[in-house]
Amino acid sequence: MKIRKVGVLGCGLMGSGIAEVAAKAGYTTVVREVAEDFLEKGMGRIQSSLDRAVSKGKLSEEDRQGTLGRLSGTVDVEGLAGCDLIIEAIVENLDDKRKTFAAVEQVVGETTLFASNTSSLTITQMAVSTQRPERFVGMHFFNPVPVMKLVEVVKTLLTEEAVVATAVEFVESLGKRPVVCGDKSGFIVNRLLVPYMLDAIRTLEEGLGTVEDIDEAMKLGCAYPMGPFTLLDFVGLDTTYYIANIMFEEYRETRFAPPPLLKQMVTAGLLGKKSGRGFYDHTKK
Ligand code: CAA
Ligand code: NAD
Repeated sequence: MKIRKVGVLGCGLMGSGIAEVAAKAGYTTVVREVAEDFLEKGMGRIQSSLDRAVSKGKLSEEDRQGTLGRLSGTVDVEGLAGCDLIIEAIVENLDDKRKTFAAVEQVVGETTLFASNTSSLTITQMAVSTQRPERFVGMHFFNPVPVMKLVEVVKTLLTEEAVVATAVEFVESLGKRPVVCGDKSGFIVNRLLVPYMLDAIRTLEEGLGTVEDIDEAMKLGCAYPMGPFTLLDFVGLDTTYYIANIMFEEYRETRFAPPPLLKQMVTAGLLGKKSGRGFYDHTKK
């Protein structure tokens, strides 16, 4: 299976990063959003990330132009025609993802591979709602995509081995390290990381320390690059809330349950870096 043209669904935090690394690696890449303003915002994010790489001497001006030349955006699902691989990175909601894959299936060929960047849904739930469960994998990237080296490649009971091999090869061609894992909610990383982030909120609710102190403690005490609240703001509190609900529903273990403060902040529109305010005020930086 040869991948030449990649379609990315969603141009938010993750979709923009995935589209950027695919185009940078030489693939013709089309990214689809639901509305022009979202697309514009996502394309702006890609532009700034490429500018940053050029200014740091990590990317030549020629490669930046080449990357942008291979990349296009669309709000029409028809724009994805001819893609060999579709990577979905839309909102963490099963119904929305299923509907989106069903729409894409109308415009791509039978051999096109489907991948989801879901954080917490099982791949099987999405795969069985399509006509190609054997050509469906998880491809779980990490934020910020241009920097983070890992991609979890998730195989289900139905995924063909050749499809897993193609996904692994594709991830390697992006300069990333694939780890193949089974299809359980949260896969490897989020199974461990999500309870940690939720527990940080619980320690705050209990008054164990301030946001700044808890962050400082985990940064300096464990040499983590970011404290848990900086990370929560970075991931997005809305996304974290959806993930917690899905994982709690799946495992019925309280460590995955969303703390009340998380729900309240999402309800109040305090979504982290993406909305300007979460545990920190990002408008001042
Ligand atoms: N886009 C592109 N490049 C970026 C970037 C972005 N958004 N943010 C940082 N970078 C690059 C910088 O250009 C810089 O490159 P150089 O080393 O060549 O200079 C490098 O990353 C380091 O950046 P900074 O020096 O500006 O900042 P930093 O040292 O604080 O690192 C960080 C930033 C890489 C984000 C680091 O803080 C980090 O690794 N944080 C933890 C991230 C993490 O845990 N991600 C996983 C989230 S969970 C997830 O993704 C799964 C899920 O399903 C929810
Ligand atoms: P986000 O809110 O930044 O972006 C989601 C984007 O999808 C929005 O711009 C929205 O307009 C768009 N969208 C919604 N429905 C669409 C459709 N039908 N077609 C095309 N676009 C559509 O969210 P995000 O953080 O990029 O998360 C996207 C996915 O990646 C989720 O499944 C999430 O769990 C997963 N993920 C997130 C992170 C993270 O750190 N934020 C890390 C790994 C995986």
